[in-house]
Amino acid sequence: MSTVVLHEKEFELMIPKSEIKESIKKMAEQINADYDGKELVVVGVLDGVFMVLAALMKKITVNVSLELVKLKSYEGQSSTGNVKKLLGLTSSLEGKNVLVVEDIIDTGHTLSYILDLVNSHQPASVETATLLIKPDVFQDKFPVRYQGMAIPNKFVVGFGMDYDGQGRQLPDIYAAKE
Ligand code: IMP
Ligand code: MG
Repeated sequence: MSTVVLHEKEFELMIPKSEIKESIKKMAEQINADYDGKELVVVGVLDGVFMVLAALMKKITVNVSLELVKLKSYEGQSSTGNVKKLLGLTSSLEGKNVLVVEDIIDTGHTLSYILDLVNSHQPASVETATLLIKPDVFQDKFPVRYQGMAIPNKFVVGFGMDYDGQGRQLPDIYAAKE
């Protein structure tokens, strides 16, 4: 499929699944090397991250446990700038090596919120991994250690990401047509 229509809006193919797979594999290799001999807690930010998490976790070879949080900041095609916590952390991260995993970083509001939340638990270390990043919008507000792919400031769907609830199941990533 080279185009899809969601809520009457057209999206065109931007990143095929083969490239997504390769990008996640590279991130996992870096993570495995950096955390060799250590224990890792992955904190995944739902909903969008579910496909990235499933693919990434299968490639992690160090001891890893999973925590999920559910946050919401997007409505339609833009960030509201206001992050809502719908499901929080259920276990302590004190003294742990934490890796926050995101599907996409746009303004960085969600990341800033989750980093504050994680840091309030006194972890031993905190890093971030994201499949996609929009550098023109994010402007390096914080260091993001593991970055899959940088994309232009376009609204994207697929591989977990949605347009008002639709498109999450698509195995490739599509960008909104201008
Ligand atoms: P931020 O807080 O602006 O960095 O946006 C982060 C969250 O908004 C991501 O975790 C996504 O869930 C969602 N988001 C940001 N950009 C897009 C996009 O282009 N398509 C779909 N969701 C997005
Ligand atoms: Mg997300």
